[in-house]
Amino acid sequence: MAAGKGTRLNSKRPKVLHEVGGYALLLHVIRAAKTLAADNEIYCIVGHEAERVQAAVAATGVSFVPQPEQRGTGHAMQVLKAWLELTGAPVPKNLLVLSGDVPLIRTETLAALCRLHLQERAAMSILTAVPQDPTGYGRVLRLTPGQPEVVAVVEQKALTPAQLAAPEINSGIYCFETAALFSKLDLLSCDNAHGEFYLTDVAALLVADGQRVVALQAESADEVLGANTIAEMMHLDEAMRAATARRLMAQGVTIFRPDTCVIDSQVSVGPDTVIEPYVQLLGATRIGSECRIRSYSVIQHSELGNGVVVRNGCILDHAEIGDGAVLGPYAHLRPESRICEMAHVGNFCETKKTTLGRGSKANHLAYLGDAVIGEGVNVGAGVITCNYDGQQKQTTTIGDGVFVGSDSTLVAPVSLGDGAYVGAGSCITQPVPAGALAIGRAHQVTKEGWVAARRAARAAARNAEKKD
Ligand code: UD1
Ligand code: CA
Repeated sequence: MAAGKGTRLNSKRPKVLHEVGGYALLLHVIRAAKTLAADNEIYCIVGHEAERVQAAVAATGVSFVPQPEQRGTGHAMQVLKAWLELTGAPVPKNLLVLSGDVPLIRTETLAALCRLHLQERAAMSILTAVPQDPTGYGRVLRLTPGQPEVVAVVEQKALTPAQLAAPEINSGIYCFETAALFSKLDLLSCDNAHGEFYLTDVAALLVADGQRVVALQAESADEVLGANTIAEMMHLDEAMRAATARRLMAQGVTIFRPDTCVIDSQVSVGPDTVIEPYVQLLGATRIGSECRIRSYSVIQHSELGNGVVVRNGCILDHAEIGDGAVLGPYAHLRPESRICEMAHVGNFCETKKTTLGRGSKANHLAYLGDAVIGEGVNVGAGVITCNYDGQQKQTTTIGDGVFVGSDSTLVAPVSLGDGAYVGAGSCITQPVPAGALAIGRAHQVTKEGWVAARRAARAAARNAEKKD
């Protein structure tokens, strides 16, 4: 169920597209669903900003069911039922219902709910939890404490004074026997505090009919917490990132001050890699083993080999870094930067759409864009590839073993053959053949005694002024 607006967020973005752990709430929920069902068995109910929500998760391969008017969670199921009838899609015997705004749910817990549901031959099985503060959630009332049978689910606003202290909350996650659920949907009423059709009312309707409704309490309340406000969302974000850091540490990664690091939930890191405080690892980033990521580096959608050193303050985006490479401090690797094994990119260097070959070094203040650079190349301080001619990007090609003197500008398109040398301060506009030396700068002029002569001339001029 992902059709709701999320009024309590006061945000233009649909609730299920708000992010925790670096991904939209709904993506987490779909990911969990995909571990238990085939893509074509998963239906995503969309309504508020449906197009935007659909576009954001289209790549997951799930089907969408439109709920243009959102009249509550019970109504969402009415819409699903009508949709299945209309499209003639197969109606499954059992239905697992997830809430798009309960993102921390673990697949193990969902599997346990499904197992209990089948084992108890229940018409409805409800996943519950006992959080520190149950306020705001629907409460699950059991027939006998400790026994699985449920009598009803009561929404916060309908709780009687005696029920206010009821500790067990409804997670918004259920297993249904589909026929039992569908038989009660027409009986739901919207005569309640929100004027909505509550899916939770199905529990009491089934019980009244003598059918079995059971509950399973999740091991930790954290995984069923909902996100109705930005503050709640940030609490979930913190919990998810803490869980990610714990997962990585269990796999042999050292993370100093994990509370200061921002690590997205899909990031992978190899054993014996050390992550210093205040590091961000985002998106689809994968880091090898025995690397060191120093403080204040931000790495997103990048792939790092083994033994890579990322010194302080580097920014990497869609970059690929080979084994043993050394970056930074303060290097900026923009998309399609490919830094090969043992290569160095030093302080205040920027790369974009550039391959820096094995063992090559650009250690200081360089801009390398749209360049293909061979192995064992030395790029001097301040070298710039002039890759943009005002209209198009042009390529600089540098062979193996080339030496580019400091402060040279390489005006693309241009190529330097294997082993070529470029004198410092050159502006290179013509191809340089292999093994050649190219110098593109004005000849030096040296005037012996010029300084003393000028001083004398000035002093003489001042004396003449005074006399006047
Ligand atoms: C719901 C439960 C409550 C439970 C809580 C857990 C009901 C009536 N109440 O309350 O018992 O404790 O979840 O988080 O179900 N949605 C639709 N279509 C709609 C309305 C909602 O798809 O017409 C979706 C929302 O996008 C959301 C989910 O259903 O992902 C839950 O809706 P929400 O309005 O957040 O329900 P709660 O008030 O949190
Ligand atoms: Ca909710």
